[in-house]
Amino acid sequence: MKDVFGIILVLVVTVIHTANSCPPSERAALVEFKAALHEPYLGIFKSWTGTDCCHNWYGISCDPESNRVADINLRGESEDPFLERAHRTGNMTGFISPEICKLTRLSSIIIADWKGITGEIPKCVTRLPFLRILDLIGNKISGEIPADIGRLKRLTVFNVADNQISGRIPPSLTNLSNLMHLDLRNNKIWGPIPSKAGELRMLSRALLSGNLISGPIPVSICGIYRLADLDLSINKIWGAIPPCLGKMAVLATLNLDCNNITGTIPTTVLSSDIGNLNLSRNALEGTIPDVFGPRSYFTVIDLSHNKFTGPIPRSLSAASYIGHLDLSYNHLCGRIPAGAPFDHLEASSFVYNDCLCGKPLRAC
Ligand SMILES: *[C@@H]1O[C@H](CO)[C@@H](O)[C@H](O)[C@H]1NC(C)=O
Ligand SMILES: *[C@@H]1O[C@H](CO)[C@@H](O)[C@H](O)[C@H]1NC(C)=O
Ligand SMILES: *[C@@H]1O[C@H](CO)[C@@H](O)[C@H](O)[C@H]1NC(C)=O
Ligand SMILES: *[C@@H]1O[C@H](CO)[C@@H](O)[C@H](O)[C@H]1NC(C)=O
Repeated sequence: MKDVFGIILVLVVTVIHTANSCPPSERAALVEFKAALHEPYLGIFKSWTGTDCCHNWYGISCDPESNRVADINLRGESEDPFLERAHRTGNMTGFISPEICKLTRLSSIIIADWKGITGEIPKCVTRLPFLRILDLIGNKISGEIPADIGRLKRLTVFNVADNQISGRIPPSLTNLSNLMHLDLRNNKIWGPIPSKAGELRMLSRALLSGNLISGPIPVSICGIYRLADLDLSINKIWGAIPPCLGKMAVLATLNLDCNNITGTIPTTVLSSDIGNLNLSRNALEGTIPDVFGPRSYFTVIDLSHNKFTGPIPRSLSAASYIGHLDLSYNHLCGRIPAGAPFDHLEASSFVYNDCLCGKPLRAC
């Protein structure tokens, strides 16, 4: 009797064990994925042995119910104990094998900050219906954003910052109706921002700085209710600042510096809740609207290197807080207002104008 129980126990344990390990086809796809990469310093792939890729394979986790691979999370710079122990950041070369597209239950692909990974974003990732996070920041990935990226209906995070991605922003990207975080900073992306960008209803951060993006700022962006951070700096954007940007519900950071933006500053933008405003190095002109007041709270307001004329608005001295103000390199003239928000500002905030005077510059 005891023996029978023993055998049954062994059988049950074996069945549970097999049921809990990753499918052989998924293990094979991971082995192929690993084969295309080279990581000689930390040895993160040394843990990728044995049949069960769901247990103790560094950076791999599986769905507990189905045992399908759900997440690939490989970061070359993190608080990860593995990297901390090694006292170094990661450095990996090779490319991202299209084999990962065989892992059809993937919810996140994070292959970040390895500095040396080249090749393209595998086009087939757009066929991963459960993908929520695609984060490839900090590599040397080139090629274009897959044209049909808009198929990834569940995608919430798309981050390819600090790579060498070129080409245009595909129009289908505006179909990512769940996208919350878009980070394309520091690539070689050119062409316009899709005019239907406003369809990205869930977007809260749109970071496109450091590319070759041209054309005007689409007015449809003002319709993105949740947008808190819009960074279009260091591009080739031209045209005027849409006044409706100042009417957005939660927009707190607006960086348009280093572009070729013309026209005047809309009064709405200065009287809004935007507290972090950089319009430096454009071709803005006209006077700075006199629309500040006790509700004005700026951690940064940088209007330097433009063509502004006239005086510094008197109402600016009524602002409740101004952390950093830069009005240098314009054509401003007249007395610098006195008042609490100005007390800590240095001459560098006001230099290279036509005829500003008063503290902290020379007396009038
Ligand atoms: C990464 O490794 C390559 C090859 O050894 C080396 O040339 C490169 O300088 C390393 N990069 C960093 C950022 O450590
Ligand atoms: C966006 O999705 C709609 C509906 O699925 C589709 O008809 C349209 O072609 C897509 N747009 C682009 C640019 O892919
Ligand atoms: C504003 O943008 C300019 C140009 O990109 C940059 O040099 C400057 O540091 C930014 N200002 C602040 C306060 O960050
Ligand atoms: C900026 O725009 C103006 C007017 O559209 C144009 O004449 C000028 O060449 C542009 N400058 C740059 C650097 O693109």
